[in-house]
Amino acid sequence: MNPILSASGLNTFYGRSHILFDMGLEVIQGETVCLVGRNGAGKTTTFRSLMNLTPPKSGRIVFQGRDCTGLPPYKMARLGLGFVPEDRRILGPFTVRENLEMGMIQGRSGRWNIESVLECFPTLTRMTERMGGSLSGGEQQMLTIGRALMGNPEVLILDEPTEGLSPVIVAELKQLVLRLKDQGTTILLSEQNIRFALSVSDSVVVMDRGRAVFSGTVEAFRQDASVQSRYLAV
Ligand SMILES: Nc1ncnc2c1ncn2[C@@H]1O[C@H](COP(=O)(O)OP(=O)(O)O)[C@@H](O)[C@H]1O
Ligand SMILES: [Mg+2]
Repeated sequence: MNPILSASGLNTFYGRSHILFDMGLEVIQGETVCLVGRNGAGKTTTFRSLMNLTPPKSGRIVFQGRDCTGLPPYKMARLGLGFVPEDRRILGPFTVRENLEMGMIQGRSGRWNIESVLECFPTLTRMTERMGGSLSGGEQQMLTIGRALMGNPEVLILDEPTEGLSPVIVAELKQLVLRLKDQGTTILLSEQNIRFALSVSDSVVVMDRGRAVFSGTVEAFRQDASVQSRYLAV
């Protein structure tokens, strides 16, 4: 099967620090792929490279059959790459509804709109007129995912979505991701919470010091005890 998104040979720097070394990954349409690896392994930098927020010095990015190497972030977004960053970036002085509306992307329509997004997030339905800044961490995480869906992405990128969330909210997030997946959404996420990652993903890419050191199905990952002990704090 042709991947909907693939990256190869990415070398990314912050200033003079070489962070990604020939990083690559592939995402098949409809699948959920999870990047795992210790803190500082390069997961966020990989996402920033895919979006071209931190442009790689070399490498190639192909999205929906088109070479997108070097395209600016807003163009990647318009082509359907939706990114939910680690720090969430909810607009505090705007209501939940306004935050969602700001997720719309010119020229992108589909099944996601205010009604269908709210239908997916019952908690948000009860607080559409509340200010974004007054929401709990879990509610804000749901809101950022809802906002990204408003742009009708072809691939949804979630950077450590469970970070800092209580177990109850993590369970809710798991149901949400599984539901999106059931509906055919293609998801690329990163996680420190391995249990969560394995419960929602089809395949796993393990990163260590800026490189992909394992790439395979969840099944193959589960059977590879040495990868788990070498590269993850499990
Ligand atoms: N803005 C930045 N400037 C310089 N170094 C950075 C910056 N952001 C991240 N790094 C470094 O890049 C490496 C990879 O970080 P990151 O991609 O955030 O890893 P992860 O998301 O896996 O925790 C780390 O060594 C980190 O310290
Ligand atoms: Mg990160």
